[in-house]
Amino acid sequence: MASQLHFTENTLPLHLLLERLERLVDVVVTHEDLHLAACSYPRRPHHRVREFVRRREFRHGGWRYNMVLDTYKSIFRQQGPVADMAILKIARMGHPVLLQKCAPVADPGAPEIRRLVDDMIETMVDAPGVGLAAPQVYQPLRLFVFRVPGGRETDDPDDIAQPTAVLINPTVELIGEERAMGWEGCLSIPDLRAAVPRATRIRYHGVDCDGNVTEREATGFHARVVQHEYDHLDGILYTMRMTDFRHFGFIDELDRAGAKG
Ligand code: NI
Repeated sequence: MASQLHFTENTLPLHLLLERLERLVDVVVTHEDLHLAACSYPRRPHHRVREFVRRREFRHGGWRYNMVLDTYKSIFRQQGPVADMAILKIARMGHPVLLQKCAPVADPGAPEIRRLVDDMIETMVDAPGVGLAAPQVYQPLRLFVFRVPGGRETDDPDDIAQPTAVLINPTVELIGEERAMGWEGCLSIPDLRAAVPRATRIRYHGVDCDGNVTEREATGFHARVVQHEYDHLDGILYTMRMTDFRHFGFIDELDRAGAKG
């Protein structure tokens, strides 16, 4: 009897049970345990988990079993039958994908790139964060998403809140010699924050999935976010830009000490 089961990490006792029965069937699992596995799946606001199970019921020795042929789960947004965006896993510092030079995106309009961009925006907003680069979700491609929420701007009058945007195959040019220290965090370096020197003014360029070209100057926090995300595409983390390790610490400790810039 050919069947397949994707074991979760909680099913070792079941696996032992199955081994006793393996002369009868390939795999057996009770539906109750599958249900528990489904309940442990992370719940997100505005999302629901849909579980798909193909199973066949049979009886043996007075017991009733469900033989699971296949099972998989998906996270769906609550609205829209096709808007099934996903929260992606974020690579953490130490994973080699964060240290490699990323490859240009051959076709920014390709369906898989659109899907990746949608999922990255969903992941960034969920985290929450102000930027996310493709290598942070294990895709070594030259693209990132970012935003500048209100309240994060610097005093520079040109540094204003920016809606969520994507830059594919971007270029960044530093303007002038002025550098400023500012606090940065990174979704790949959770719980930590550091003061990092960055150019105060830049010019950047990139395209989106529809081929629209963005070419503009940016200052302040806007410029900082773009420089931080662009660095990810060359395998550079903010820790590699730091010049004063005294201004590096756990976010809650820094907040307690009033060190937030
Ligand atoms: Ni980062």
